[in-house]
Amino acid sequence: MKIVAVAGARPNFMKIAPLMWELRRRDGVSSYLVHTGQHYDEKMSKLFFVELNIPRPDIDLEVGSGSHAVQTAEVMKRFEPVLLDQHPEAVLVVGDVNSTLACALTAVKLGIRVAHVEAGLRSFDRTMPEEINRLLTDAISDWLFVTETSGIDNLRHEGIPAEKIHFVGNVMIDTLLACRDRAEASPILDQLGLQRGSYGVLTLHRPANVDNPEVFSRLMGAIEQLARELPIVFPVHPRTRRSLAAVGAERLPGLILTEPLGYLDFLKLVAHARLVLTDSGGIQEETTVLGVPCLTLRENTERPVTCSQGTNRLVGLNPERIVAEGLQVLTSPSVGRVPELWDGQAARRIVDILTASHSSLAS
Ligand code: UD1
Repeated sequence: MKIVAVAGARPNFMKIAPLMWELRRRDGVSSYLVHTGQHYDEKMSKLFFVELNIPRPDIDLEVGSGSHAVQTAEVMKRFEPVLLDQHPEAVLVVGDVNSTLACALTAVKLGIRVAHVEAGLRSFDRTMPEEINRLLTDAISDWLFVTETSGIDNLRHEGIPAEKIHFVGNVMIDTLLACRDRAEASPILDQLGLQRGSYGVLTLHRPANVDNPEVFSRLMGAIEQLARELPIVFPVHPRTRRSLAAVGAERLPGLILTEPLGYLDFLKLVAHARLVLTDSGGIQEETTVLGVPCLTLRENTERPVTCSQGTNRLVGLNPERIVAEGLQVLTSPSVGRVPELWDGQAARRIVDILTASHSSLAS
């Protein structure tokens, strides 16, 4: 069975890693890895390939940045000849970025079956670009691999036949569990002068939070207040870097700005944090597994299991509420448990299902 696997942006890399490890160790499966080039900075891309032992991409489409239409269309234009050349039996896409949708759509138009890893998540907020990518990718995929049971309900509700839906667990957690020991060796806490359990971590990059100076400045006002209680480390995404200067929040007491961090440094930093504040999807899941309290600075989440079972709390964008919830977590930290099947075996289950359905088609 030949599978073309796709990765394009930073949150894809920790999802594709365990799938590539698994694909490359199986007999009878050949894999071809495509990097779309949606993310291209050393710290947003190459570092992850090195740290996570992801094989070198067989091709880099080098699409770079652009408007949503330009980026999506460029990926499609450059991905189509790869598929015509490779003739795979399946295309494997992960997550919800523009590259995910672009490659799924290109494949399905050529009659190639699509496997979507992390299917079924829904924020029910169609102003999020990722929500559109999730809905459309799921509608045209042949295998829908789900991380949490809400995904099964969402897909059934959208009329996806049950036999296409597979609840397999979470590949991002496969990576976290595989890298936990190596991350412990990271010197990041010493480098930043931090003690375990005595600092917070902040990440912000969603357009809805960082592109509007008014919204972003109110959020940073809340962070400024919390940073009086404990130091807060803020690895800054390239999109956010521009906005920080615009609202004059580059130097706040207690706030430690860094460049985007590699996977191992970031995992170590989060694992020993007292509190995480984020608008990322993946970090809500990682903090749940690490048992670290997480405040999500959004009005909704597509990952409800992180709130119902994990350590995550949705706190919205109101600065007073963010500060109040932050102070509360410092005195009584949220506790949770690890969701079902987040056990480090998701990639194995996925590759088992793909190869079994190929064998049954071939016989
Ligand atoms: C993308 C994903 C988002 C994901 C995020 C993680 C979509 C719609 N969005 O958002 O779901 O959570 O990645 O990072 O696919 N830039 C650089 N260097 C890079 C990449 C980007 O400087 O390597 C800058 C560019 O100025 C670019 C901006 O960041 O215009 C935004 O990049 P883009 O890929 O459009 O979206 P993200 O905000 O990164």
